[in-house]
Parts: sequence; C-alpha cells; structure tokens
Amino acid sequence: MSDDKRVAKLEIAGKTYELPMYSPTAGPDVIDIRKLYADAGVFTYDPGYTSTASCDSTITFIDGDKGELLHRGYPIDQLAEKSHYLEVCYLLLYGELPSPAQLEDFESRVTNHTMIHEQMHFLFRGFRRDAHPMAIMVGVVGALSAFYHDSTDITDPWQREVASIRLIAKMPTIAAMAYKYTIGQPFEYPRNDLDYASNFLRMCFAVPAENFVVNPILSRAMDRIFTLHADHEQNASTSTVRLASSSGANPFACVAAGIACLWGPAHGGANQACLEMLQEIGTPDRIPEFIARAKDKDDPFRLMGFGHRVYKNFDPRAKVMKQSADEVLELLGVENNPTLQVAKELEKQALADPYFADKKLFPNVDFYSGIILEAMGFPTSMFTPIFAVSRTIGWISQWKEMIADPQLKIGRPRQLYKGATLRDYVDIEKR
Ligand code: CMC
Repeated sequence: MSDDKRVAKLEIAGKTYELPMYSPTAGPDVIDIRKLYADAGVFTYDPGYTSTASCDSTITFIDGDKGELLHRGYPIDQLAEKSHYLEVCYLLLYGELPSPAQLEDFESRVTNHTMIHEQMHFLFRGFRRDAHPMAIMVGVVGALSAFYHDSTDITDPWQREVASIRLIAKMPTIAAMAYKYTIGQPFEYPRNDLDYASNFLRMCFAVPAENFVVNPILSRAMDRIFTLHADHEQNASTSTVRLASSSGANPFACVAAGIACLWGPAHGGANQACLEMLQEIGTPDRIPEFIARAKDKDDPFRLMGFGHRVYKNFDPRAKVMKQSADEVLELLGVENNPTLQVAKELEKQALADPYFADKKLFPNVDFYSGIILEAMGFPTSMFTPIFAVSRTIGWISQWKEMIADPQLKIGRPRQLYKGATLRDYVDIEKR
C-alpha cells in the first residue's frame, strides 16, 4: 500500500473533507475513511461490504474481471498443476515458496500433529448419530481450545505457530472422524507415512477389517481440491475468523466460527446444494425448467455453483475443477456419469442465456467439485467439511497476518439505525 498523496474530496453540507487515497500493488485504489466519523460525524453505509476493504493483506489477490486468483502472486492454475497442498499451505502461511529443506521440515511438523487428544473421542460420541458432519466440526474444532491450552495465548508467537500447525494437521482427522461417526464405522487413526490427501482418504474410507490402498490418482485429485479451496481473500468465513479474532479470542474458537459461516449455502454449503440440484434436475431435458426458475424473480431458486461476489468472469478454480472431474470420472470408468452430463449441459445453456451473460454469472469452484467428490465415494454431507479442511490454511494465514499487525483493533461496524427513538417504558397493564 503506498500513500501517493492523492485525496478524495467529500462534500457534506457545504463543507469539504479530504480523505487520503492509497494505491494497492494490484486492484482498485482505496479511500481511507477511518477519520470520517471523527471529522464529519457521518458513517458510511455498505451492507455486505460490496465496496469496503476491511483490512490490508499480502496473501491473496483476486481480479474478478480477469478471472484471476493469485496466492502470494502465484496464479492458482500454476499452483494446482505444479505444486501440492502442503506446499501451498507453506506459501500462504509464510509468504514464499519453501526450499526443499523448509518443505521437509514443515511436512514433518504437520504430520507429527495429526492425532487428536484421545479424550476428544468421547466428544464425538455425544453427538446424535445422524448429525451433519459440519455440526460436529463446529463443536469439535471449538473444543480444541479445551484440549490444547499451550497454544491459545495469541500474544505468544510460538503458541500462534503451534496452533497453526495443529489446525492444519488435525482438521482432516476431525473431518474424517465426523464422517466415520455418522456412518457408524470405527475411527481410523492417521498414518504419518502417507501424504496429506492420501491420509485423509484413508481415514475416511479404510476399515480395520480390510487392507486399504489409496489410489494415487484419487489422492492427487483430492490434493487438488484442497489446493483450489485453500484461500480466497476476504470471503465471508475468512472475514468471520478475522472479526472473531479481533477480540483476542483463541484461534481454535475463531476457526470454529469460520466453519459455522462456511456452512451456509451461499458460501461453502454451495457444493452440497449444487450436487443435490444437479441430481434433482436428473436429465438434460429438464434444464430449461430450472434455468427458467433461476431467472424468475418470484422464485427464490438460484443455480447453485453459479455466480460469485468477486468473479465477473470465469472462476479460474472452476476451470481446473472441470478438467479434474473429467480425469477422475475417466479413471473410475464413469465418463458417462449422468450428473456430469447434466452439469456440462447446464453450464452450456446458462452461459448462452442473456440473463446469466448480462449479470456476469459463471460457474464457480463448487459447480464441478461435488461431482468429483461424489465419484470418489463421499456423500454430499461431506462436501462442505472437505471445503473446511482446505480453507483452514486460508483462515489461519489471514488470522496470523492480522494478529501480527501492530494496528490491530477490534472489529466493530457501525449501523444505519432505523428503529424507534427514545420512548418511555409502558407498564404491562397499560399495553
Ligand atoms: N442464479 C440465478 N441468479 C443469480 C445467481 C444464481 N446462482 N447468482 C446471482 N444471481 C442474480 C441475482 O438474483 C441478482 O439479480 P438482480 O440484480 O436482478 O437482483 C444478481 O445476479 C446479483 O446477485 P447478488 O445476490 O446481488 O450477488 P452477490 O454478489 O451478493 O452473490 C453469490 C454472490 C455467490 C452469493 C450468488 O451468486 C449465489 O447465491 N450463487 C449461488 C450460491 C453459490 O454457488 N455460492 C458459492 C460461491 S463460490 C464458493 C465460495 O466462495 O463459498
């Protein structure tokens, strides 16, 4: 951020206020309104933060018009093709790609924290058998703060580092346990001789009664799904983590808040909602009916996996995901998967429709991810937990950046109040 001495001028009731402007390294300039209320006595109004930069950050940049996503400057398609999830984690967390020795050390630290405290197993047993795995994750991740007291002091950089590694390492274990619990199978302990994605697949699909060998192509596809969801600048769940952390709350509690936010169908829950929608459509001949519903102002239905607050062009993650879907389904011998056929035809028809073109609505990352996950054997209820596993690195990288910022202030938005003004209490017998 450079202070280029330019100012924006705002005139209120004949008085002009000068607001500093900053130029980012990429993206639109910003107007600094931090002193506006003190100087002019007015607030700005921006529900949904459509025009508000809530922080400065050096981690991730999205150019929504170009359909570009950069982590620390590196394009997501290059990372998805040439890198792998734990290397991307290192990049997001520490700012640079690791040397071979740094990567080895990081991978070893992560793999040595994959188990969870044995007593936590009892926590799982307190949930109803039919609980959604996201409900379990919100609870269990929040409960990490009850088990790892030695990494909850956010003023200690060493504890922050340990908490970060613990979260990256334990999240797949917790997600897999949530899954196993809901299907009534025994928990599978992590195996540290496996890579991150293979270990996760094994914890989800192995049973003690049988040998389980992870298919390397499925493991690569899993790793790519993790990589593609790793971070996405100031999205709703990341902003939730930042806001929760701004009060000084511990990282496990804050990440639990992020998981709760991610669950919603407008955010991470869209991958489950999208696959369910594609299955409900069922056959390509029903697509026009669903497109008509998505366009109908009186129908709340939306095409799930379509549209994005920031991308007004193709979501670059969706392109990689579509290619992965083809590869995985071919490997599994289900190229003629009816859901994939419906997805491809729906994408084609929606993109050719002026409604979607005019509103710049394109497939997003969730449009194809569910097809891959389903083909791998995951039920739809596991799609959002997998998103949560992937996004944990984004949440903690943004958290770490925020906590280290000397300008850190508690997040405390203002409001445009439209309620009643001062009035006297009326006794109950007079109402
Ligand atoms: N289907 C039909 N119409 C849509 C859709 C859609 N999927 N998305 C947006 N629109 C319309 C919307 O009705 C509105 O029309 P109008 O201007 O006539 O009122 C216009 O496009 C702008 O929509 P908006 O809701 O004001 O845009 P937003 O930036 O607030 O919403 C969104 C972004 C992602 C919540 C929205 O596009 C959506 O609900 N998509 C479906 C859910 C989804 O796929 N979410 C996953 C996002 S990517 C993964 C992640 O980051 O979590």
